[in-house]
Amino acid sequence: MVSAALEIVVSSLVAGLVYIVYRLLRVPDNLRPFPSVPIYKLVKWAFWSTTPRAQYLEMREPLYRAHEVYRIWNFGRWKLIFNNPDHIHQIYRLTNSAIDKVPLTSAANYSAITTFLGNGIIFAGLKDWHRIRKVVNPAFAHPWSTEEFGVCMQRLVQTVRRQMPDKGALIRVDRLIKRVTLDIFGKVLIDYDFNCVEKPDSPYAAAIIKIMDEITMPLFSAFPFLDLIPGIRRAQLYRDIATFDELLFSLIQTKLQQQQQPGKPPYPAKGSSDLLGMMLDASDAKDADRLSPKELRDNLTNFFVAGFDTSAASINHWLFMLAKDPHVQARARLEVLEAMGDELPWDAVPTSEQINGLKYVNATIMENLRYNPPISLTAGRMVVKDCQIGPYHVARGTALGMHLYALHFDDRLWTDPLAFQPERFLVTDANGSNDKHNWLPFGMGARKCLGTNFAMQEMRVITTMMLRCFEWSLPADAIYADIRSPAFGTFSPTDVVLNLRARL
Ligand code: HEM
Repeated sequence: MVSAALEIVVSSLVAGLVYIVYRLLRVPDNLRPFPSVPIYKLVKWAFWSTTPRAQYLEMREPLYRAHEVYRIWNFGRWKLIFNNPDHIHQIYRLTNSAIDKVPLTSAANYSAITTFLGNGIIFAGLKDWHRIRKVVNPAFAHPWSTEEFGVCMQRLVQTVRRQMPDKGALIRVDRLIKRVTLDIFGKVLIDYDFNCVEKPDSPYAAAIIKIMDEITMPLFSAFPFLDLIPGIRRAQLYRDIATFDELLFSLIQTKLQQQQQPGKPPYPAKGSSDLLGMMLDASDAKDADRLSPKELRDNLTNFFVAGFDTSAASINHWLFMLAKDPHVQARARLEVLEAMGDELPWDAVPTSEQINGLKYVNATIMENLRYNPPISLTAGRMVVKDCQIGPYHVARGTALGMHLYALHFDDRLWTDPLAFQPERFLVTDANGSNDKHNWLPFGMGARKCLGTNFAMQEMRVITTMMLRCFEWSLPADAIYADIRSPAFGTFSPTDVVLNLRARL
């Protein structure tokens, strides 16, 4: 009797679960005609790290050649992904009119990524986005001095040298680069010194690094409901988010109190230039647009997600590409030495003028962003008004995204796209332009990356200082031809070990 009842309960639970999975994975009628990336491949990605190129070749190439648009299951819904360059440009142009972003809070509200990002700028719908941009635009219009990035880099250079008794050692660089980009972010964004390069285990630094490592785990991005299941749910991740919130809210509170002090000097006071302070100042001017502490917190977490791992990933890829190609490395270093000389202290921070003159170094950064776009798949968009994209009629309510990796490797747009050739960004046509039209690592249009200038300046300072202070190569027993990343759509390399030798 008892076992019969148990059988009924278990069968009902299984039937319920099957029904939920069926409902979740059911393809909307209007998306049925499009070819699909098989779910088992997404699951495979979720468990094995891969290289961006392998992922592209394995998943997309067959679909890409045959079809310029296909559907993929991502973050709890089916999405159309566009590969064709003309269609990608068209989607960018339609963004903020027929196409909007999908606020994360509209789906899987319980998921770790939604808990962390809240309703911040990255996924904000048009109405909220206008309000947020009004407050954050002035802060991002600020010209970044090289000093702001360089002082954090000096700490990294000194730490690495301490690990090199004979001026050379095998160094796990991906961790170090993450730490220095976190230090830069802390200083420039929220006026807080994580000092992660020297003390990586301090609670707030450890919390945010853990969050960044886990927040976009492919398995949970594809199947966010897993965060609801006890035993599978990433409980520690939610605790790390709470720890980091503690820091953000206390900094916001302190800044708000400072701002309310009578006789407070106009911002920026004493040359201070952190983004949080500037955002508060901008919202102070117009009360109606003022962001609440929770909104400020949501946008800060958005900046961390948008800018911290992307910059670190990009620099790690750059170091790797230049280790693979010693000629490119030598040419870039020569340019730095000519601009800065060997007379300055060995860890000198380059000036803006010096950096602006480094055309070849800049070309290596641009080529690296083409070759390894940290955000290869931009999703999170929704059609809000029926529209035509190329020959396709796309109905209201369709979620879609663009495959920037496909754009950057399209042999109709790029000569020999598989070759790493910084020179391609030195060549200009009669109008003085080069391939930049199809170079979209930062996206384009209204929702183009807000941190483009920040990221480019940060990368210029870090790469210049690396070239001046070190030479590097792949370890003799390196087994990898390309670096791996446990990711889907965004790529953050892990296990990058390089043979580093101090130059000065
Ligand atoms: C190499 C570094 C970076 C890359 C490759 C990158 C790439 C991108 C891309 C492709 C988008 C557009 C996404 C879409 O269209 O769906 C974007 C948006 C954004 N990025 Fe970046 N990013 C980088 C660094 C940064 C930094 C350092 C910050 C902040 C300090 C930042 C802040 C943002 C913000 C706020 C948005 C959303 C803009 C909006 O919707 O108005 N990014 N980024």
